[in-house]
Amino acid sequence: MGKTVRAYAITADAVARERERVGGDVEKMDVANVIALDKLELRDVGPNDVHMRVLAVSGEHNVDHAALADTVNIAEARGGRIYPGNSAVGEVVEVGADVTRFKAGDVVITHCNGDPDQFGYPLRIWAYDKPESVGWYGEEAVVGDWQLLPAPLDSGLTLWEIAALPLRAPTAYHMWRRALGIFRVKVSAEQLPTLNVLGFGGGVSELFLMLAKAEGHNAFFCSGSPDRRDALEKLGITGIDQKAFNRFASREDVGAFRKHVREITNAGDMHIVCDMLRGPVFDAGLAVAAREGVNISSGWQLSQVVTYNTTIQSVKQVTIDHTHYETIEGCAEATALYGKVFKPTIHKEIYAFEDLPRAFEEMHQNTQTGIPIVRVAADLPASVKDLT
Ligand SMILES: NC(=O)c1ccc[n+]([C@@H]2O[C@H](COP(=O)([O-])OP(=O)(O)OC[C@H]3O[C@@H](n4cnc5c(N)ncnc54)[C@H](OP(=O)(O)O)[C@@H]3O)[C@@H](O)[C@H]2O)c1
Repeated sequence: MGKTVRAYAITADAVARERERVGGDVEKMDVANVIALDKLELRDVGPNDVHMRVLAVSGEHNVDHAALADTVNIAEARGGRIYPGNSAVGEVVEVGADVTRFKAGDVVITHCNGDPDQFGYPLRIWAYDKPESVGWYGEEAVVGDWQLLPAPLDSGLTLWEIAALPLRAPTAYHMWRRALGIFRVKVSAEQLPTLNVLGFGGGVSELFLMLAKAEGHNAFFCSGSPDRRDALEKLGITGIDQKAFNRFASREDVGAFRKHVREITNAGDMHIVCDMLRGPVFDAGLAVAAREGVNISSGWQLSQVVTYNTTIQSVKQVTIDHTHYETIEGCAEATALYGKVFKPTIHKEIYAFEDLPRAFEEMHQNTQTGIPIVRVAADLPASVKDLT
């Protein structure tokens, strides 16, 4: 029988209880009442498995969606309980007989491509909609070796910064290579070498803009958080205060945003827009799209459904593209950019393991100054002690 460890769970019962407490008003739900510490029995280590001790994890929005059941009630759909957490840094404790890529003592990161299709794109996400998948918001985990990559400890990033990236960096990397590729089908680098690239608030967008900036493009970050804008300004990415446009609550706000973008881009508008939020942000992103522009998204935080005028987008030759998580090869490519391109902004508090539910409620309340990181292991291996 496998070892039993502490791990966080989201149960359909907890979601229902919290829903009832707030009279069905999702806006009033407290995520910290839904995510709870539980016990998890680890499976035996098979020949291709790796047993790891989790060192640190990042707070990811899919957990917020799971706790609120605002898009799909994933805990219920998966039989009443999920063990969430699909972004982690760990230390290898033991490997199965056929594992050659890792050995005890290695520090590793996870990816969450739970079920690659024939071209490598995820059909399912690990610890979310992949059946039977057990996540990594726990003290220890047993995973297939195919789910791990070596942690780039020489990237110049701290352990906490490395922990911020396993989910968000591959997402941003995939979106960037797709959006740029689509734009370049329409307009060559000879015709227009330098693009204007816009991202709306959020960790994935920040990383997307770092990729654009690293390749010499003009990058703009439209966020409501002065801390997050300041961090990106230091990398040469121009901040736009989203709250100055009332988060696009009305047509007039979108109109004012459009005028502002025209001014700061010398009437060039935005060639590529990264929008992980949808809702009112979608209209604002489309309004500032340049001719031949690309609007790309793999998120639906504010709304799952959008509408647009197909005639206008056709005449403007605008492409609206949808992505999900990266291929496993793409995850490895994204990992090679840690520290060189990806310099994530992390929240000023590193949360203790016991405070993980509070980290999620604060993420939900949108009060954090960067990506939230939770330290899971009290004692860290010598190889990362200098990285904290
Ligand atoms: N498909 C995938 O593989 C994938 C991967 C990663 C993420 N996602 C999804 O993408 C979305 C964003 O993820 P993330 O990790 O980038 O986000 P994040 O780092 O958690 O940040 C979310 C951002 O949303 C902005 N925001 C919150 N409430 C808002 C509102 N009412 N109006 C406008 N902006 C608001 C905030 O920006 P400001 O306050 O600074 O403006 C906040 O920084 C989530 O829904 C997540 O599930 C999907």
